[in-house]
Amino acid sequence: MVTKTSIQNLLRRNVVQLSPYSSARDEFSDKADILLDANENPFDSGTNRYPDPHQRALKNAVAGLKMVNTENIFIGNGSDEVLDLLFRAFCEPRLDNVVVITPSYGMYEVLANVNDVQCRRAGLNDDFSLNTDNILGKTDKNTKLILLCSPNNPTGNTFDPDAIKLLLERTEALVVLDEAYIDFSKKPGFLGKLNQYPGLVIVQTLSKAWGMAGLRLGLGFAHKEIINVLDRIKPPYNVNILSQQQALIRIKDTQETQRQIKLLCHEKQKMRETLQLLPLVRKVFPSDANFLLVEMNNATTIYSRLLEKGIVVRNRSGILHCAGCLRITIGTPEENLRLMTELKKITI
Ligand SMILES: Cc1ncc(COP(=O)(O)O)c(C=O)c1O
Repeated sequence: MVTKTSIQNLLRRNVVQLSPYSSARDEFSDKADILLDANENPFDSGTNRYPDPHQRALKNAVAGLKMVNTENIFIGNGSDEVLDLLFRAFCEPRLDNVVVITPSYGMYEVLANVNDVQCRRAGLNDDFSLNTDNILGKTDKNTKLILLCSPNNPTGNTFDPDAIKLLLERTEALVVLDEAYIDFSKKPGFLGKLNQYPGLVIVQTLSKAWGMAGLRLGLGFAHKEIINVLDRIKPPYNVNILSQQQALIRIKDTQETQRQIKLLCHEKQKMRETLQLLPLVRKVFPSDANFLLVEMNNATTIYSRLLEKGIVVRNRSGILHCAGCLRITIGTPEENLRLMTELKKITI
């Protein structure tokens, strides 16, 4: 199990040694009348000044929303940036490795490849549950990250918390738990377990339930030692001023987000029931997320027919355990109705 003191040993040597860039707004962040320190254009356009590199106001809002201390929060340019920084902080290229589950979110493997870090795949069980023996069996002393996603993309299921705890207790690597879809799940996530497990990194996003995919805002939650490292290596102004301002406004409107989540979950249930009646459909898998994984007869043909009608879903039929499967995001009630109308017309 990773402890508070062993986090430092997991870091890449160059990261331990580096002196981070100190931006003008790091050295001075109080109010001042005249700012002549950052070579900005002085004429006010709303975007002529650099954003707060520490995103203080937004972090405070996220802290209130998630009931987590600001020292345990990192905000990135999408969760893809948070994940990339974890690779860069902890994985020595051509020496270290990571373990990913399969099937899962494809970016983990891409990030491993970009960072020249070996990616070891551990298949899920046939029922999409975690195979902890398989995962632990792939680890060795150079394994720095185990990447999990719960609810998992594209399978839609949440993993058994005891299986995740077992991994946290049995590994010397960091366990990165991607909870991109947790806001749609009725099951609790792992934020409440941060204090118990110094080796746990939770990644969430404002791109899904919060409706801010275009703003690019990813959230990392971890022990402060890990957050400090990510802060040291991130680009100084990684979250732009418009994203910080917009997110602050939108995060306050929790009621509207909750209303949308409720509506989408209701639509998901309706879509499941309608899909199950279609002769084309073999199986609709359980989902704690805002999408359904659907096994169909001739998935690729159906995918193409829908495309001809201007409807795009995700064809996942080529990946492990997902033969014949399409992944369908829950849209507005009107969009979902259109999809169902078109699906009903398809005969193969
Ligand atoms: C599991 C998972 N994690 C992360 C992301 C990306 O999130 P972001 O928009 O914050 O980069 C996605 C997007 O599809 C996802 O499915």
